Amino acid sequence: MGEPASDGRVAVVTGGASGIGRATCIRLTADGYRVVAIDVGDAGADQAELALRADVGDPDDVEGAFGEVLGRLGRIDLLVNNAGITGSQQATLCHTTPVEEWDRIHTVNVRGPFLCTRAALPAMLRQGSGHVITIASIAGLVAFPQRCAYTASKGAAVMFTKSIAADYAAHGIRANAVCPGFVQSPMTQWRLDIPELRASVEARIPMGRVARTDEIAQAVAMLACDSLTYLTGHALVVDGGWTAV
Ligand SMILES: NC(=O)c1ccc[n+]([C@@H]2O[C@H](COP(=O)([O-])OP(=O)(O)OC[C@H]3O[C@@H](n4cnc5c(N)ncnc54)[C@H](O)[C@@H]3O)[C@@H](O)[C@H]2O)c1
Repeated sequence: MGEPASDGRVAVVTGGASGIGRATCIRLTADGYRVVAIDVGDAGADQAELALRADVGDPDDVEGAFGEVLGRLGRIDLLVNNAGITGSQQATLCHTTPVEEWDRIHTVNVRGPFLCTRAALPAMLRQGSGHVITIASIAGLVAFPQRCAYTASKGAAVMFTKSIAADYAAHGIRANAVCPGFVQSPMTQWRLDIPELRASVEARIPMGRVARTDEIAQAVAMLACDSLTYLTGHALVVDGGWTAV
C-alpha cells in the first residue's frame, strides 16, 4: 500500500539481515527506496543496496555506519529501528532475572533505537523531513508473562517513539511504532517448532495463526506512505486480534 518512492529516497533498516528486517528491506526496495541494511551479523547483500555491519548498541559502530550511509547516499528519509532481541529462551520472573539479561535486552531494544535515531536526526533536520519507525511489540502495550525485561524494553520503544514525534513534529519529522503480535521469524522459530507451544500461541490469536514477516513489512510500508502525512506518535498494532480480546 506504500506509494513508490521513485525519487530514490533512502531507508535504513536495522536488523536487516533476518526476519522482519529482511522482509522490510525487500518491501521498501520494491517501493523504490534505496535501502541500507545494518546488522550485527552478516547483513547480507541481496535484500539491500548497501549492507553494513554494526552493533546498534555501540555508539562508535552506529556513528560509523550512519556516517557511511550519508557519505555514500547523502540523505536518510526513513529509519526503521527493527533490530531487537528477546533474550534467553528461559522465561523468568523479575526477581530471578539476571541483571546482565536486563542490560543486554535494553542495550539492543532501547539504547539501539536511541543511538540510531540520534545518528539519523541531524540529516533529517537538514532535509526538513524524515520518518523514524520503530518495531516495538504488543509486549510494549500488554505484559508478556515472565518477560519483564523484554516487556519493559518494548514499552520504552513505544514511548521513545512518542517522544521523538513530539520533539520533531515541527521540523517535518514523523515517528511511529509498529507493534507486531507473534511473527514467524528466526527469533520465534524455536518456539513454533514445538507443536504444543505453537498450538498455545495460535490459541491466543483470534486469526488462529501467527503473522508472516511480509505482513509486518506491509505495515511499515503503509506508515511510511506519503499520504499519511498527519500520522505521528502512533503505535500501530498488527497482531491478528491478540490484544483485541
Ligand atoms: N518475531 C516476533 O514474533 C516479534 C514480535 C513482536 C516484535 N518483534 C520485534 O521485531 C524485531 C525483529 O524481530 P525478528 O523476529 O525479525 O527477529 P530476528 O531474530 O529474525 O531478526 C533480528 C535481527 O536483528 C539483528 N540484531 C540483533 N542484535 C543486533 C544488534 N545489537 N545490532 C544490530 N543488529 C542486531 C539480528 O542479527 C537479526 O538479523 C525485533 O525488534 C523484535 O523484538 C518480533
